[in-house]
Amino acid sequence: MASAQQLIGLVKSHAEGDEKRFFDLAMQLAASEEQKGHSRLAEQLRQWADAGQQPPKQVATRPTPLAAPRGDLAGFLSASYPTTRLNDLILPAHLEDELAHIVIETRMTERLEEKGLRPRRRLLLAGPPGTGKTLTAEALAGELKFPLFTVLLHGLITKFMGETAQKLRMIFDAVHTTRGIYLFDEIDALAAARGAENDIGEARRILNSFLQFLDENTGPSIVVATTNLPEILDRAVLRRFDLVLPYELPDAGAIEKAMHRRLRGFQTAGVEWRDVARHAEGLSTADVVAAGEDAARRAVLGNSEVIETAAVIASLARRRSLHSIGAGANAEGSPTLHSVQRRGSTRVQTKGRRVGKTSK
Ligand SMILES: Nc1ncnc2c1ncn2[C@@H]1O[C@H](COP(=O)(O)OP(=O)(O)OP(=O)(O)O)[C@@H](O)[C@H]1O
Ligand SMILES: [Mg+2]
Repeated sequence: MASAQQLIGLVKSHAEGDEKRFFDLAMQLAASEEQKGHSRLAEQLRQWADAGQQPPKQVATRPTPLAAPRGDLAGFLSASYPTTRLNDLILPAHLEDELAHIVIETRMTERLEEKGLRPRRRLLLAGPPGTGKTLTAEALAGELKFPLFTVLLHGLITKFMGETAQKLRMIFDAVHTTRGIYLFDEIDALAAARGAENDIGEARRILNSFLQFLDENTGPSIVVATTNLPEILDRAVLRRFDLVLPYELPDAGAIEKAMHRRLRGFQTAGVEWRDVARHAEGLSTADVVAAGEDAARRAVLGNSEVIETAAVIASLARRRSLHSIGAGANAEGSPTLHSVQRRGSTRVQTKGRRVGKTSK
């Protein structure tokens, strides 16, 4: 625990309005807790101390109007200004900590650079569908008040056959000059083609260009790539990222939290959460949220404020049955999806561009 002197110092600096001292003391406190092995507490202290800081001068609190892509860029880069926050994410503690630290590193870039350090700005989020990867990119943007630029990779490849590398060059020029979160969603589309015997050449060229550009300085921006199929990404791809975060299907605690949040405003005191978690096993967080919405809608239309365990379980079952539509049927005509979907990995091949999609 903090010493009495440290606590007095903190309260005093706050009372005197000495923000700098308050921040320094909070950071010292975090460092001493870290030394004692209380990393989570240390992380939270840093996070809150940092949240209380004024943003550094060069960080605008609102994205500039210039942030909207223009000309050619507008064809394969879409801009949005999410208000999602890190708090909206339901993730294991170690992922929450890493993401909070990324935000701090970006906010405190100057401090790091003074010591010859660079904030981590190339992130790969890997894991099954519906586990919060895209939402994470939105939350980083919302937290930092950066615009979110989503790179429409599939559009880029099909629309600009032969010129995709040049278009990527344009995107990475923007990464360098226009501060934002640049989201390259589902890069496995590119990686899958790399080295494949029958690849058409173009996809491999694009991936190689992507990796080459990724090696460059990202300037003030953060590049976030996502994939459902981390196993097809080789070391050459993985080592380009400063941080690779593994996303997983939610555990019982995360299921309860996601469902609880969606059912806020209803009476859920009687819900047997353990039963609910059991019936949600193998489903993604996106599925759990959707099932929660379904239960909420039905309660509203049934003029009830009370949510029963059975109603939640029925909504989860309805959600689960939807997957069999997407997955098709096996030779006997029965759904195949649930027997092959495993925790933390997805083994289903579906038609269309999203290989391995099973849920959402
Ligand atoms: N970890 C999470 N915390 C909170 N909500 C989540 C989480 N994961 C999914 N959701 C809910 O599901 C929706 C879809 O999630 P998201 O698009 O981020 O999944 P994804 O991992 O990007 O999936 P995909 O691989 O299919 O693109 C979110 O908008 C949110 O409502
Ligand atoms: Mg996504």
